[in-house]
Amino acid sequence: MQLKFGSCPVVVASSPEMAKEFLKTHGQAFASRPAHAAGKYTSYNFSDLVWAPYGPYWRQARRIYLNELFSPNRLDSYQYIRVEEQGALVSRLRGLSGTTVVMREHLTRYTLTSTSRMTLGDKYFSEFIDGRGGHRGVSWQSCRGCWTSGLCSAACSHRRLDIVPKDLVDVLLHLADDPALEIKLTTDCIKGLIQDPITGGTDTSEVTVEWAISELMKHPFIREKAVEELDRVVGRGRWVEEEDIPQLPYLNAIVKETMRLHPVATLLPPHLSIEDCSVAGYDIAKGTTLFVNVWSIGRDPRCWDEPLLFRPERFLGEKIDVKGHHFELLPFGSGQRMCPAYRLGMKMIQSTLANLLHGFDCRLPGGVKPEEVDMEEEYGLTTHRKIPIAVVMEPRFPDHMYELLRSTCN
Ligand code: HEM
Repeated sequence: MQLKFGSCPVVVASSPEMAKEFLKTHGQAFASRPAHAAGKYTSYNFSDLVWAPYGPYWRQARRIYLNELFSPNRLDSYQYIRVEEQGALVSRLRGLSGTTVVMREHLTRYTLTSTSRMTLGDKYFSEFIDGRGGHRGVSWQSCRGCWTSGLCSAACSHRRLDIVPKDLVDVLLHLADDPALEIKLTTDCIKGLIQDPITGGTDTSEVTVEWAISELMKHPFIREKAVEELDRVVGRGRWVEEEDIPQLPYLNAIVKETMRLHPVATLLPPHLSIEDCSVAGYDIAKGTTLFVNVWSIGRDPRCWDEPLLFRPERFLGEKIDVKGHHFELLPFGSGQRMCPAYRLGMKMIQSTLANLLHGFDCRLPGGVKPEEVDMEEEYGLTTHRKIPIAVVMEPRFPDHMYELLRSTCN
């Protein structure tokens, strides 16, 4: 489909075949981003990775991310952070058992603290606590302000002490001094590059876990099957570890099914063509914006049997994954601009969902019936539930299991 946004030509790909044409066959030609005001004003003049135009700076930044933040070794070295923050999440929810809990607040706190510890080495955010100890919110602006000023003092101490890099800020500050670097990293580049993991890593994982919980509250039978799998594979004497995840095919199928029906980016962030090209017989001019409609592709009846039903079983025994090779399921995009952090995103989503299901019996508050769970979406940078899901959680294990967790995260 071709549109005009003002004077800008726009094409929309809404089938797996066309997504493959644009993102794989002509991936190089569509690997840039349009120069929108969002990238100019929120990302230090296109200095982050999401909005950087295709070219040497983007290539260098992506290499830094892939080698320094998202390499398998680096992800393993940050596992303790995810475990501690998940322990803190479960402990907080244990403290609220029997009351109605708005999951979004707690999930956001978990994803933001985990990502900021991995990126900045500390939590750096201000939060609001209600009278009952429930979490009320996290201030994005104060978080942004904090790391900007924190960056200045980190820069000074780094230059004085020559510390060994342990988080992304350290790595970037070291690289900023490296004369061999192809493109010099300015302070704006560093701020842009530390902003991406916080913005890209917080909302995305939270939204997906919230949708998964919503679908499981709507489908109690599926929830019971997932809990049965956890009891059988992990057992009731310990918490789920990241190493258990490959042995939990039903849980993995639930996550994929959630991403199929509720992709975080319903339209992938816009791509831009950097040369004239011919795609599936259509001539497309340089400077055309491309949207890939992942939401429609996930509901295409040509690819999916009964596409509107939440049915994780469709993935059991199937090879289809989320790594950008199967164009009917593209929650992380595909090709040159594919999410560089999909492994981290999957780890956070799978292990959080697994431990919440393992540790708590959940029910809907106030006699709400499963079929009454509202699934209306609110479109935005990420597509989340219009009304946050609220549940009542009761512990499934004896007290000592939760105390063990609290002691590891203190
Ligand atoms: C559920 C978790 C996540 C989902 C569903 C997700 C999804 C996406 C999508 C759809 C894109 C755009 C792909 C395209 O333009 O074709 C993207 C790009 C990106 N994501 Fe993620 N993401 C997730 C987690 C994360 C995390 C945890 C981080 C960082 C810690 C992150 C950082 C980025 C960055 C920097 C880009 C831009 C890449 C580029 O333009 O070269 N994402 N992500």
